[in-house]
Amino acid sequence: MTSILITGGHSGIGLAAARTLAAQHIDLVLAGRSMERMRPVVDELSARHSVSVTPLILDTSSLASVRAAATRFHAMRDSGEVSQLDAIVCNAGGRFDGDISYSPDGYETTFATNCLGHFLLVELLFPSLAEKGRVVYTASGTHDPDTIDGRMVGTAVEPDAVMLATNGKDGGKALSAGKRYSTSKLCTVMYAYELDRRLRRANSSASSIAFDPGAVPGTGFLRGMPKPVQWVSKTSAFNWVSKHMGVITSDVEFSGASLAALAADPGYAEASGTYFQANDGTFSPVRSAKVSYDERLAAQLWDDSKRLVRLTDNEEPTQLR
Ligand SMILES: NC(=O)c1ccc[n+]([C@@H]2O[C@H](COP(=O)([O-])OP(=O)(O)OC[C@H]3O[C@@H](n4cnc5c(N)ncnc54)[C@H](OP(=O)(O)O)[C@@H]3O)[C@@H](O)[C@H]2O)c1
Repeated sequence: MTSILITGGHSGIGLAAARTLAAQHIDLVLAGRSMERMRPVVDELSARHSVSVTPLILDTSSLASVRAAATRFHAMRDSGEVSQLDAIVCNAGGRFDGDISYSPDGYETTFATNCLGHFLLVELLFPSLAEKGRVVYTASGTHDPDTIDGRMVGTAVEPDAVMLATNGKDGGKALSAGKRYSTSKLCTVMYAYELDRRLRRANSSASSIAFDPGAVPGTGFLRGMPKPVQWVSKTSAFNWVSKHMGVITSDVEFSGASLAALAADPGYAEASGTYFQANDGTFSPVRSAKVSYDERLAAQLWDDSKRLVRLTDNEEPTQLR
């Protein structure tokens, strides 16, 4: 039986992916911060597809919550409640508008939520990943400053984990919410590539893949924006204009199905180290931002992230060293 853990699988693109996977009779672990929001999806998917759907409380912005979720997952595995994972889908995330804010660990919220939480989760759950298991990261085309998507949101800055985690502190200048978001997604692509390199060095058969769902209206993604902006973003006129400006656009079902395919379709078994994009009904591997291929910066990002999440020797799998 195949089993996949997905963060943010109860809404938006993650929910569309979870529905696709459950329809393929794949067991799911839905990881999210609210049992109340996950419960209806757990009930829907398990009733409709007769699969096991297990909710797991996880707040990716809190290192304590990530550690507690991993401990709970391993306990459920020991008791046979859940099985080994065929994929870990790091999909939760968002852009956080308004005043800059900080996680319970004192790290900038966007970087903590989108990056550090998933970084730690992958380290802690890696021992429960199947030999040929996959880690799939939902990134975003906004990570690339050379694209219209990247320029519209706010061009990504250097993927420096320490600067991003402490951004705006001690009187320092805060990046805009858009730049915090696009840079967090640049880091996400670089985590995927760096994980792939580490797996190859360790002769592991596991894989690591990055995914851009395209601009997908109608999810909870813009929930922090003013209501008129949310409304306009869902109109077909806005979609038409975006497409004609060169923005990569998609819809929630197509992007969800694409994410599900990366996690479970045998056709993507050899896709490690690749960045895929959903674009107006097509789904293909594409080049990511130039800087995302910088191996020195990626290794630095990884090592700094390890220090920021205070990863212990016991927590670090040998294959990822
Ligand atoms: N929609 C787009 O245009 C677009 C484009 C490119 C990339 N993306 C990426 O696609 C992914 C899914 O976004 P979406 O568009 O489907 O939006 P969404 O419906 O808002 O989904 C985001 C999910 O992330 C979860 N999440 C947020 N903060 C969390 C935290 N601290 N701990 C645990 N879970 C948390 C949310 O859970 P709650 O219900 O608890 O908030 C929600 O389930 C995100 O990574 C986003 O950056 C979206």
